[in-house]
Amino acid sequence: MNFASDNWAGASPKVLEALAHGSAGIAPAYGADDLTREVKARLAALFGHEVGAFFVATGTSANSLCLAALCPPYGAVYAHDEAHIIGDEGGASEFVTQGARLIGIPGVGGKIGLADFKAVAGKPAGPASRFPLPSTLSLTQASECGTVYREEEVAALSEAAAAFGLKVHMDGARFANAFAFLCSLRGDMTPGDITWKAGVDALSLGFTKNGALLAEAVVLFDPERADEVEWRRKRSGQVLSKARLVAAQLLAMLEDDHWLDLARHANRMALMLGHGLVTAGHRLGFDIEANEVFAVLPKAMIPRLRQEGALFYEYPRASLAADRRAGPDAELVRLVTSFATMPEEVEQFIKLASQI
Ligand SMILES: Cc1ncc(COP(=O)(O)O)c(C=O)c1O
Repeated sequence: MNFASDNWAGASPKVLEALAHGSAGIAPAYGADDLTREVKARLAALFGHEVGAFFVATGTSANSLCLAALCPPYGAVYAHDEAHIIGDEGGASEFVTQGARLIGIPGVGGKIGLADFKAVAGKPAGPASRFPLPSTLSLTQASECGTVYREEEVAALSEAAAAFGLKVHMDGARFANAFAFLCSLRGDMTPGDITWKAGVDALSLGFTKNGALLAEAVVLFDPERADEVEWRRKRSGQVLSKARLVAAQLLAMLEDDHWLDLARHANRMALMLGHGLVTAGHRLGFDIEANEVFAVLPKAMIPRLRQEGALFYEYPRASLAADRRAGPDAELVRLVTSFATMPEEVEQFIKLASQI
């Protein structure tokens, strides 16, 4: 019963097959190969926009390179208080931007609200150069609480950001899960609708959590900034010499919407888990929208679930609001599903959480 994280799962068999195929023969290194060219064209078609696209090995690198493309060393990046870039990346964005400051904004359920953003980013900075130059807004899609910004929320935040002179970054480590959810609300949704059309300038497009072996992309909707990213990517050791093997993974993911099938499965498993826990009498911290379930479980139940083989994390910091509702004898836990989650694992967990 793995609900520790989606990156505890391996890779999708289709990705592994594509890797074996893509690795046959020889091809130019450092991205000068046909597969890399094909992926770049496919990404432009997917978003319906010219893009600058760069493969990197980690989501942390994608985030920090996107931010470096948007924010000067003397700039400020606004992100949710619980954003991965603030709490989980060891200061990578500060390092790669060469000094930008990350500033947290509160928000229930992992999402930045428009009023909170305006209140923080619109605060007069005082005499010029006393405060870092407000530069970029970073949104996590899906959020750290498994919630998903709607198209109009992204557009409203981007509009407010533009009014303050800020660029917009999207941390899409779980973009596939978010997009799959949004498609369930509106069938004709496109990736462009929730990115560049809604004001996003740069996207960290994650594939690893969703079933790639090791494949993330920096996607710039303003390709003019591409040269700068390429230098920074090299300096941060992320220019992968066998780029075609990353390209092979991305092509497998994009082929016949495999990336969406995998994300839909993970999302379905999360819904099944959440509904089962509610039926068993437990409360949820947040609405289930992507592939994360936050549940309030009795503290005494937690070691027993682990004893039975369930893997998951307690998540005390995920949103004060949910935390408070947990009470002294209860704990907010995070359960993440993936493309590899089996319904049997979910059923077993629900059964245990109903009994003990
Ligand atoms: C929202 C979010 N962004 C970025 C990352 C970074 O990914 P990586 O561990 O590949 O650097 C993660 C990983 O957990 C994440 O959850």
